[in-house]
Amino acid sequence: MTLKGDDKSDKPENGATAKKFGIKQVIVGVVVVAAGWLFIQQVYVPAPDEGQLGGPVKGLSPTQLRKFYATREVFKKEFTPEEGLGPLFNGKSCFECHGQPTSAVGGEGRDVASTGVVRIGTRLPNRPAAKKPLKEVISNLTQEDVDILLFKGGPALERKTITSEFVNKYPHDCQIEIGTVPTGTELISMRHAPAVFGFGLIEAIPDQDIVENVFKELRENPGLAGRALSQIDPLTYQPRISRFGWKNQNSTLLTFTQEALNVEMGITTFFQKNEKSATGLSDFPRCIYKYLPPEPNDVGTNMAKLAYFQALLAPPTRGPITEQVKRGEKLFEQLQCAVCHRPEMSTAPVVYVVDPDSPAPQLRYLEVPALESKPVRAYSDFLVHQMGPGLADGLPQGGAKGGEWRTTPLWNLRNKKFLLHDGRTSDISEAILAHGGQATPVVMGFKSLPDQEKDDLLAFLKSL
Ligand code: HEC
Ligand code: HEC
Repeated sequence: MTLKGDDKSDKPENGATAKKFGIKQVIVGVVVVAAGWLFIQQVYVPAPDEGQLGGPVKGLSPTQLRKFYATREVFKKEFTPEEGLGPLFNGKSCFECHGQPTSAVGGEGRDVASTGVVRIGTRLPNRPAAKKPLKEVISNLTQEDVDILLFKGGPALERKTITSEFVNKYPHDCQIEIGTVPTGTELISMRHAPAVFGFGLIEAIPDQDIVENVFKELRENPGLAGRALSQIDPLTYQPRISRFGWKNQNSTLLTFTQEALNVEMGITTFFQKNEKSATGLSDFPRCIYKYLPPEPNDVGTNMAKLAYFQALLAPPTRGPITEQVKRGEKLFEQLQCAVCHRPEMSTAPVVYVVDPDSPAPQLRYLEVPALESKPVRAYSDFLVHQMGPGLADGLPQGGAKGGEWRTTPLWNLRNKKFLLHDGRTSDISEAILAHGGQATPVVMGFKSLPDQEKDDLLAFLKSL
């Protein structure tokens, strides 16, 4: 700003110039600014962390990016009892269990003991399966054979309570008991918390493509063929093919998120207004009820935000692809690892994701072109396979039997600290050698590789 200019504007002849900017010009100006704003909202401006772990998928619009970063905060947010946390829970935030490495929101659990979940069950005594040694039947136990101990703290133990974690908020004679493994429990399953990177791509794989994997495997490698599972989508009441969870127990991010809110954090939603794990726990001290906020704790607001964030999280990227990695990739195909760990699938041509700003509980959906017709290099067929007694936990879930597990997506392997459903090892060879059941012949192939070729295969796996 110069005095000279200021002087000028005071001169009377400028009054004529000012007149030229009449109402018409003002309207044109407003229209140009609005159009510019809309343009900026829609055009592609790369975000600093796009495509990186914990960052957004590439190609989002500025509006979508803004929503992504806002919803990422909800994933990190620690909930309080006043907001619905508890009375029983395992973690205060999603990030608490999905935050390794800590720089990347949405990663795996820190360690299985503190961020994993324990599922429990016992064989029903009146069933034929209960009359045989557990080892003989564990792989084939179904829902009819097992009591998931719903009234004794099952199916998933709750290791924290609002009175144990917020000691001074509640009267000392009003303590809630923490879930423990009831005596006589036969089946105890540790579950490691996996990373959720790239989950929007997985959600966007068309159902029929996963079903087609079954037929492809039956045609080409019947011994390795898996089973597709399905769930009724509680929003649309339509069946959808499952793809999430160690046992393939869930088909959409919204359902998984509502279950995680409910079971891991004790936050009820309009989907399920009761805290699942508190079913039948009538031994809550009476005095606690007056401290609990009304049900449902969340009308869908946080649920939609969390589902949106996970849907737009970037998939993991590959490490350097060397000659050795390329040789290892060939072996991965030759050994038939790739039958189950299918290298690539594709998302649907049109993809909708829940709008995080939906007027909940009426959820609205937004088209996200950045997720449309995209390759999904997850290394999974999203089917369950019988993996033998060494991996079996005996707990049927979502249609999977005691020894069945969903083929774990191998992307992100180079960042993973814990492998297999119970995180029992961090050694890739050990994880391979643990494969039994249907994968037995493939593991024999792996064992008979000369050392040099084993190294090549491992180099490939560590590049994922
Ligand atoms: C106490 C730790 C804990 C908390 C808190 C937690 N999770 Fe998880 N999460 C797990 C574990 C353990 C699993 C594996 C469960 C299984 O499949 O048996 C899991 C699995 C998942 C999966 C499926 C992963 C896959 O491979 O398909 C999603 C999605 C997920 N969690 C989302 C969330 C969201 C969203 C929140 C917050 C509302 C959350 N989780 C809170 C421990 C946790
Ligand atoms: C019959 C299908 C099948 C075949 C064949 C198969 N896998 Fe797997 N793989 C699975 C399933 C199912 C799991 C999950 C097991 C569990 O966690 O209990 C798994 C888990 C893994 C894991 C652990 C991943 C993690 O993050 O926990 C690795 C690594 C792996 N497989 C590599 C391989 C390699 C290498 C081969 C070939 C030598 C192979 N697999 C062959 C089905 C298969």
